[in-house]
Amino acid sequence: QTTITVSPAAIGFAAVAKNKNDVVTVPAGYTVQIGARLGDPITGGAAAYKNDGTDAGFANRIGDHGDALYWFGLSSTGTRDETSSIRGLIVQNHENINQQYLHAAGASQPGGVRPETEALKEIECHGVSVVEYSEGANRAWTFSSTSTFNRRITPNTPVVFNGPVAGSDLIKTPYSTTGVAGRGTINNCANGYTPWGTLLTCEENWAGYFRRSGDNAARTAKELTSLSRYGVTSSSGSYGWSTVVPADGTNTTFRRWDARATTGGTATTDWRNEPNQFGWVVEIDPYDKSKAPRKRTALGRLGHEGCWPGKFVAGTKPAWYMGDDSRREYMYKFVSNTAWAAADATATDRLAIGDKYLDAGTLYVAKFAADGTGSWVALVFGQNGITAASAIYPFADQADVLVNARLAADVVGATPMDRPEWTAVNPVTGEVYLTLTNNNATLRPLNGTDAANPRHYNDPFGTAGTAQFGNPNGHIIRIKETSTESLTFTWDIYAFGAGADLDATNINLSGLTADNDFSSPDGLWFGRSSNASGLVKPLLWIQTDDGAYTDVTNCMMLVGQPGGVGDGGARTITNTGAGGATATQATRIGAAPGANLKRFLVGPVECEITGVDSTPDGRTLFVGIQHPGEGAATFPGGNPNAPTSHWPDSQATGTAGATVRPRSAIVIITKNDGGIVGL
Ligand code: FEO
Ligand code: CA
Ligand code: CA
Ligand code: CA
Repeated sequence: QTTITVSPAAIGFAAVAKNKNDVVTVPAGYTVQIGARLGDPITGGAAAYKNDGTDAGFANRIGDHGDALYWFGLSSTGTRDETSSIRGLIVQNHENINQQYLHAAGASQPGGVRPETEALKEIECHGVSVVEYSEGANRAWTFSSTSTFNRRITPNTPVVFNGPVAGSDLIKTPYSTTGVAGRGTINNCANGYTPWGTLLTCEENWAGYFRRSGDNAARTAKELTSLSRYGVTSSSGSYGWSTVVPADGTNTTFRRWDARATTGGTATTDWRNEPNQFGWVVEIDPYDKSKAPRKRTALGRLGHEGCWPGKFVAGTKPAWYMGDDSRREYMYKFVSNTAWAAADATATDRLAIGDKYLDAGTLYVAKFAADGTGSWVALVFGQNGITAASAIYPFADQADVLVNARLAADVVGATPMDRPEWTAVNPVTGEVYLTLTNNNATLRPLNGTDAANPRHYNDPFGTAGTAQFGNPNGHIIRIKETSTESLTFTWDIYAFGAGADLDATNINLSGLTADNDFSSPDGLWFGRSSNASGLVKPLLWIQTDDGAYTDVTNCMMLVGQPGGVGDGGARTITNTGAGGATATQATRIGAAPGANLKRFLVGPVECEITGVDSTPDGRTLFVGIQHPGEGAATFPGGNPNAPTSHWPDSQATGTAGATVRPRSAIVIITKNDGGIVGL
């Protein structure tokens, strides 16, 4: 291992040009290797992946839609070693599926009975994977398909509930009659970590998987308010899993996805509470696969995007910062009741340390004020109007508050944001960054802006110039607190997404150029403190999941070196709506990033870039390439054998056989001179 000290730092590479090629493009002087892909065998001696829709046994393979990932180092003897940069475990979320590519002839039509083999495959493609990686000669990286650490966690894996909601009636189901057990995790999007060596995975768009509508008569008014607020309203569930009639006659694997309440339903047939078992932050010990994941209910039930910790300071209560990914949802933080004791970082019963810090604490939601200040409001039963007398929703107790955290946040008047996605924390200053990926004219109208969500404009899309009013390109807000325990903060907006061609006075407010213009920021991560410790300004990586700029370029990843909150100033912009109506809005804008923000990577066709971590020395970067070719052969119908992307098979040459199906995969990026990636 090489120790590298870098100070001062500069972003030295030449920016990658926007492009629509079917490859991952990186700057000159860098090398891309392909890591684990959808379907690759990792446990149980699964057969090599044929990628023709006939593969089975996904509980032993890499899942689909690889998302957030995290490196957990291993020593040469296979013990936890946070300093290792040559051997470690990559823990990655598998958020969703490209259904059409998982089956030989696409997928069966919705509305009918789904074939059991198809539904099981789709379910098992979700969850989390743990895979051992190592660096060999000449910087060649490989992953092991036989490591004893390798593990798949799927929606069927037993989990346990911890914290204030454990044992609550609200999460009791036919599977979990005492409300402490559960099965699996789903739609795992971004993540977080703990200094004691565990991963936090976050359940995001879980609501759509359930069949639920049509049971209003069997529901209480409170239940209906909650189901509506969280969007558990589908008449089929995303993939119709609950329609399966299984070969062996038992049906809890599939029946659980039908959450319709039955009048007079029995303990064995009524899955009305199954949706309450999802929407949580889940702690996993990647070093010990004998331990069931623990759902940490004190952190609230949301459409959890990520859960990134603030700086850990001995003697101070630690905090984790969270986005709730839907338009007009909120930013949250959880502050533990227990002050940080550094010795806990090396404890061997890691999940017991999780119990200590993550099962008792306070969940707060953010309010942003126009003057550049803000506050955290506690979501605690009996405080701030969160009581049985609330007109929005009559809360019964703290478990009810946590299960219905969105409703509690409504009660206290939190600030609705433009789709809160990932959080990231500057390892030097502790400032917290949050991506706000975009919003539309319906939910952020011309006269519905505020200082923290200030823009409304049109970004014409495609050759026909289709109007996209609202905040279609998104922005990145950041907050500064005195400590993780603070109940107030100051804030400004680090960067606004925009095409470089858009109006510099009112839209391209960060002065983006051809070298760094982007849209819809989503993934967000500061380089590890171990490699950034020599940097006055640590590296900030930004990943896009774009619907507004894909007429020009595939999704991308940029790297910057931000200053901090307050390095810019107050400004008033003029917004423009349909028909030419205008309105002014005051806001707070950070210093323009200029050449201190550059495009580092452009992905293949129809992908999203999501998931990033490095080895502790910063010399190897792991990046998730999610759902290449997702637009082709869209369910239902279409031809899965004529995809629009053939990545990663296309990586070497830009092309591949016309029927080769695309796969989500990890790329491993190294700098040819052996240095830190991104400088
Ligand atoms: Fe799963 Fe918010 O992206
Ligand atoms: Ca995401
Ligand atoms: Ca997104
Ligand atoms: Ca996604």
